[in-house]
Amino acid sequence: MFLALTDFGITNQAVLKKKLDIQCWNPRDFTLDKHRSVDDRPYGGGPGMLMKPEPLARCLDELKRATTGPVIYLSPQGEPLDQSMVRDFSKLPEMTLLCGRYEGVDERVIQTRVDLEVSIGDYVLAGGELGAMVIIEAVTRLIPGVLGNDLSAQQDSFSGQLLDCSHYTMPEVFESLPVPPVLLSGDHERIRRWRLAESITRTRSRRPDLLVDSKLSNEQINLLKSLESGMNVESKDE
Ligand code: ADE
Repeated sequence: MFLALTDFGITNQAVLKKKLDIQCWNPRDFTLDKHRSVDDRPYGGGPGMLMKPEPLARCLDELKRATTGPVIYLSPQGEPLDQSMVRDFSKLPEMTLLCGRYEGVDERVIQTRVDLEVSIGDYVLAGGELGAMVIIEAVTRLIPGVLGNDLSAQQDSFSGQLLDCSHYTMPEVFESLPVPPVLLSGDHERIRRWRLAESITRTRSRRPDLLVDSKLSNEQINLLKSLESGMNVESKDE
């Protein structure tokens, strides 16, 4: 699965530039029985299988000798992933992402060897791998020198607690829809304020939860107040 990262896109570029290194460890290699079994039925009954503790524990103990950094277990019960968590992860030289299959892993592995449990959203995947891949890609694009333009990572949705504004490229009119004229004005200050107003309008209509406890600048607060009082600030209304 992880070839999707190492062989494609910005994560592939990061691997080539030696800014990202992904090593996959297979718990099956840490089994001692002839069937190399990593799963078993849950105590107390119920559907599905669980990952047995011993192979995972042996694997994680070996990893601990070879690497540094926290062990993060991907599960729907975890702390929700957000951009500030991604930013914190991007400062770590190394991390271990533990991916469960089946119904999850034996709780005692989490108790004894996991530093943080992380969820990528309120839905259930068949395994932690896609979650791990989401973290790896989100973290990789914050590593200096990976994105062509480091500024674009700073300007993303969420990096300043607001959704991103809309973007336009050529042609100037597409299916009779023109590019907002302010973007053709060449007036960088007007453009900056238009984009900020757009970000705030969008955040307010699509994700008001983000505005509640966000750390807005004075300029952003004033713009938000103007929008709330119905004042005409330069942005298309949603
Ligand atoms: N594994 C299964 N579902 C998951 C989710 N929503 N987030 C992280 N890991 C998972």
